[in-house]
Amino acid sequence: MPTLFDPIALGAFQLPNRILMSPMTRGRADTATAVPTPMMINYYARRADAGLIITEATGISRQGLGWHGAPGLWTEAQVAGWQPITAAVHKNGGRIVAQLWHMGRASHSDFNDGAQPVAASAIAIKGHTYTPLGKKEYEVPRALETNEIAGIVADYAHAAANAKLAGFDGVEVHGANGYLLDNFLKNANNKRTDQYGGSAENRTRFLAEATAAVVNVWGADRVGVRISPLNKFNDAADSDPQALYEVVAKTLSPFNLAFLDVLETLPGHFMYTEGEPVHPAIRQHYKGPMVLNGGYLLDEGSAALASGAADAIAIGVPYLSNPDLVSRLKNGWPLAAPSDPSTWYMGGTAGYDDHAVYGK
Ligand SMILES: Cc1cc2nc3c(=O)[nH]c(=O)nc-3n(C[C@H](O)[C@H](O)[C@H](O)COP(=O)(O)O)c2cc1C
Repeated sequence: MPTLFDPIALGAFQLPNRILMSPMTRGRADTATAVPTPMMINYYARRADAGLIITEATGISRQGLGWHGAPGLWTEAQVAGWQPITAAVHKNGGRIVAQLWHMGRASHSDFNDGAQPVAASAIAIKGHTYTPLGKKEYEVPRALETNEIAGIVADYAHAAANAKLAGFDGVEVHGANGYLLDNFLKNANNKRTDQYGGSAENRTRFLAEATAAVVNVWGADRVGVRISPLNKFNDAADSDPQALYEVVAKTLSPFNLAFLDVLETLPGHFMYTEGEPVHPAIRQHYKGPMVLNGGYLLDEGSAALASGAADAIAIGVPYLSNPDLVSRLKNGWPLAAPSDPSTWYMGGTAGYDDHAVYGK
């Protein structure tokens, strides 16, 4: 029976173990330019023991990015900012893919010269966000015109091509957590009447087109896709996630992707959402390698491999305070105290990369 510490091939990625570092926004890039900063080099390089690092969500365009200090991949300066990061990860023997992100209605006009954020439909997220001008209510987004979608698909392709120039090993399409592609998937959020709304097949079309665009750049064996069937972050909601994700699984399966990354948190863990788990149905209908994430550590991950529920797991929060997480789990070394949530999404070096490796 495979363990988490056995190697596995996910598409073209040869992983020395079955633990991926889950994508985590840390807000340490330059807010004005979305260029990665030098402090991000060691942060990622020190986590190179992961089977595969998935970067923090990374904007594909100015329109798609509205988060303080989140990085991008649409300008030459951003590409140059990523180059020393990917090089340092490779030097430490690791592998790293960029998570490609369009935030949709979770962005704000303050980030985009006053241009309204865009979404499947003109429905605002309840609550507030933080913009360069302070705490603001989420805005009512503008529903995308049908003929604008091809342009955003092209932005995915452009960012994917830039990821190559930046030295990444591949990309992950962010189709989770209520951002633009997920916003199109879910019927409480997508009220469109064109070919991108209505049936589950129609709502999956944008995700499939964005995936096809980046596959065209990288080859399917260097592309992963992330989905979150139940997560209600950013007011994401669907009345029948089982039916929707059966269609999503059947749509993505023929791409022969490197992996499908399913965020579906175990009870009692960060981001847990009540509801009948959808990942077993996805496993049935999706033929390629599948990664599970959400509360998985040694015991839960080993059980997921043993039951055949997953081929590998991704780990998020524990990676924040344990740069050497795989070594700690493998050797039975204790984990460091959890990282301080006030340092998760913003700030300087404090709480970012000041966690020691075991024994140091
Ligand atoms: C600080 C922080 C930032 C996150 N940013 C992202 C992100 O950029 N993209 C994403 O898909 N998920 C993001 N997540 C979710 C994690 O990738 C992961 O799905 C979640 O933490 C559950 O896994 P875990 O229990 O192993 O932490 C973030 C989570 C945290 C704690």
